[in-house]
Amino acid sequence: MSHNEELPPGPDFALGVPLASVPPDGVLAGRVGKEAVLIARLADGLHAIGATCTHYGGPLAEGLRVGDEIRCPWHHACFSLRDGAARKAPAFAAVQAWRVKIDGDTVFVREPLHATTKPQPRTPRARIVIVGGGAAGFAAAERLRDLGHAGSLTMLSADASAPYDRPNLSKDFLAGTAPEDWIPLKSEAHYAKRDIDLRLGTKVVAIDHAAREVVLREGDRFGYDALLIATGAAPRPLRLPGFDHANVFALRSLTDARAIIAACASARAVAFVGAGFIGMEAAGALRERGLDVHVVAPDSVPMERALGAELGAWIQSLHAAKGVRFHLREKPAAFDGKALVLESGTRIDANMVIVGVGVAPRTSLAEQAGMQVDDGIVVDAWLQTSLPDHYAAGDVARFPLGEERARVEHWVHAERMGQAAAANMLGARHAFDDVPFFWTHHHGIDVRYCGYAGRWDRVEVDGDLNARDFTARYFREGALVAAASVGRDRENLEIEASLHR
Ligand SMILES: Cc1cc2nc3c(=O)[nH]c(=O)nc-3n(C[C@H](O)[C@H](O)[C@H](O)COP(=O)(O)OP(=O)(O)OC[C@H]3O[C@@H](n4cnc5c(N)ncnc54)[C@H](O)[C@@H]3O)c2cc1C
Ligand code: FES
Repeated sequence: MSHNEELPPGPDFALGVPLASVPPDGVLAGRVGKEAVLIARLADGLHAIGATCTHYGGPLAEGLRVGDEIRCPWHHACFSLRDGAARKAPAFAAVQAWRVKIDGDTVFVREPLHATTKPQPRTPRARIVIVGGGAAGFAAAERLRDLGHAGSLTMLSADASAPYDRPNLSKDFLAGTAPEDWIPLKSEAHYAKRDIDLRLGTKVVAIDHAAREVVLREGDRFGYDALLIATGAAPRPLRLPGFDHANVFALRSLTDARAIIAACASARAVAFVGAGFIGMEAAGALRERGLDVHVVAPDSVPMERALGAELGAWIQSLHAAKGVRFHLREKPAAFDGKALVLESGTRIDANMVIVGVGVAPRTSLAEQAGMQVDDGIVVDAWLQTSLPDHYAAGDVARFPLGEERARVEHWVHAERMGQAAAANMLGARHAFDDVPFFWTHHHGIDVRYCGYAGRWDRVEVDGDLNARDFTARYFREGALVAAASVGRDRENLEIEASLHR
């Protein structure tokens, strides 16, 4: 590769570009030295920020500008075009802001700006406790400190590990192509630095809302002025004969993923029960490890409920081409530790079984405390539960979405709910109205999905599935409610923005 090929595309802003080349909306993509940089024209003048997303390095120049922010084409993080701040998950770190100089008709960008503003310290709630150290809990803690919360901040997590990149557990980490040091969202030192009292392996067993205290398994109590419940969801077990064998796994936590990886060392074949997103991703990852992979599910194609028959069949074909063997319209009956027996009588030799038949929201704490629960903790538009000062976010929360109530199980959405709950705990009163978004990864192909289609009655596919270039639009009673895209990242962002409007 030549030296030039390593440089980000576009002009070198250090050498100057014509003022007229900066569009009135959109952004001008270029570079400063080897750094990808964007220039945007805002109401108060020109601004320049780094163009490489701080989440996984997505190219912001290929994203979508909406007002004074730029949205990443890969997982839809939002950055301020004014100062580079990471406004919305899944990115948490700002991109570099650069000084813009205008000389006559020429614009120059040469020097990084050093942020000087710090949030005003405030303590509308002196003691905040977060139950859960996953997507929503982590994002809430970060946002609380970003917004200047100067009181105590305690995160109680039943997990043995500090918050980590859960989506990666069924993707590169499981495939063995991502080392474990990519998995933590932050180092443990980070929590100390931000004065976040992170307690791992700490299970909350009750909420004494009258006393404003949570109770740990060991009997210890933590007082709070505001509480966030971010306990997520637990894999649904399958109570079938032999499903209590040690070589039957679920995949939710880092501990689960490590156990599966350890079992792979001596396994030749694995049977997945369920053909949902996580199961199919994991099937792909273990196929990459060279295992014989079987998928057993009662459905006619994988992921049919979410994506429809055509896309489901396409996902199936991707996996089948890599050697995954499907046993669809079949149900498991029993596992004897060596073979999975189906109701049809088929026997599948398997050294391990992985069950992925959906999750159930962890609502027991809320139920016991008397909060309203209905397949999830019911929250209002500000993510407050039926008890004042008690908030819920993430997979566990059922929130108002348009005319209905929804509970979604997506990483970015859980993080954004955590961010919104954090702001509201400090008194922002911002109604949470983000459009749900998720992505899923199969044999090197990313499907990006925005919107919420609990029910849909028509799907229109525009483009070519085999060319991996399409958008599927989902409609309910004539109205667009969601879209799934491959190879059309910007279009997915545009649809997301239109759904928000
Ligand atoms: C393997 C895998 C891959 C995924 N891939 C994707 C993907 O590609 N894209 C996508 O959009 N979504 C994906 N998801 C879904 C996504 O990870 C979840 O939607 C998201 O993690 C939900 O965040 P949460 O904070 O609500 O819950 P979680 O992240 O599950 O966190 C819940 C936390 O609460 C803790 N907890 C529970 N009960 C208690 C208690 N009583 N006391 C103390 N702590 C408690 C848990 O230990 C955990 O730390 C994936 C999920 C899995 C499991
Ligand atoms: S790489 Fe930008 S949001 Fe993930």
